[in-house]
Amino acid sequence: MTTPSLFSDLLSDPAGADQTLLSLLPPARPASHGTLITYFKRYKMEIDLHDLPAPQLPEGFHWVAWQPTLSELHADVLYSSFENEVDALVFTSLGERAGCRALMNELARRSTFIPAATWLLAQDDQPCGTIQGLRERSGVGAIQNLGILPQYRGRGLGIALLLQALHGFRQSGVSRTVLEVTAQNERALRLYSRLGFRRTKTTYKAVSLNDRR
Ligand SMILES: CC(C)(COP(=O)(O)OP(=O)(O)OC[C@H]1O[C@@H](n2cnc3c(N)ncnc32)[C@H](O)[C@@H]1OP(=O)(O)O)[C@@H](O)C(=O)NCCC(=O)NCCS
Repeated sequence: MTTPSLFSDLLSDPAGADQTLLSLLPPARPASHGTLITYFKRYKMEIDLHDLPAPQLPEGFHWVAWQPTLSELHADVLYSSFENEVDALVFTSLGERAGCRALMNELARRSTFIPAATWLLAQDDQPCGTIQGLRERSGVGAIQNLGILPQYRGRGLGIALLLQALHGFRQSGVSRTVLEVTAQNERALRLYSRLGFRRTKTTYKAVSLNDRR
């Protein structure tokens, strides 16, 4: 059994671990075969795509449209955006650079991938944000991962990137878009609510603290 590095760091040396991250880990319960399971509360949210405001970018920032050669760049921004964030505990792939690269490749290969809802945000030559979009079987759009590098946060870039993707969904014929957010992720929740996303469902994601990598 291997324990993912984030968990093993937190569990083997709680005193030395990042206390913010540690505080985000819900209490674990023993399950069968000695497995420790914890449950993260998640909200499903949705928005109708009419009357969307145009995204506003500060000077010096620009959009980079999806092309397959950008997959690794998206993955690297994804990794650095989610590093030490709660979703890197919820989804193992987000906590590892290789996991982010595999995730991006997998998303882009899907027939439901929407290039028009997948964007990099950059300042000059420096990428600083990523978002990806899929179409669910029902025809509804599904935001995958919105990430802004830590040093670029609090300037409205997260909202702008989300709006840019929502316009891309609409241009692709999608009229409603959903996303899922971990309940502890208050910053993301505030951002989604401010934009008009409504909570539609609460789920609990079981995460095993053992036997994952
Ligand atoms: C969630 C996330 C994308 C937000 O990105 P961001 O660029 O900081 O978002 P914004 O700047 O648009 O909005 C965040 C805050 O900045 C404020 N803000 C917006 N424009 C601003 C400006 N021009 N000047 C100062 N502050 C501003 C907003 O009011 C908001 O404040 P609040 O958090 O107190 O409500 C980012 O924190 C992130 O990447 N987190 C890690 C990955 C993650 O959890 N993603 C979501 C998964 S569901």
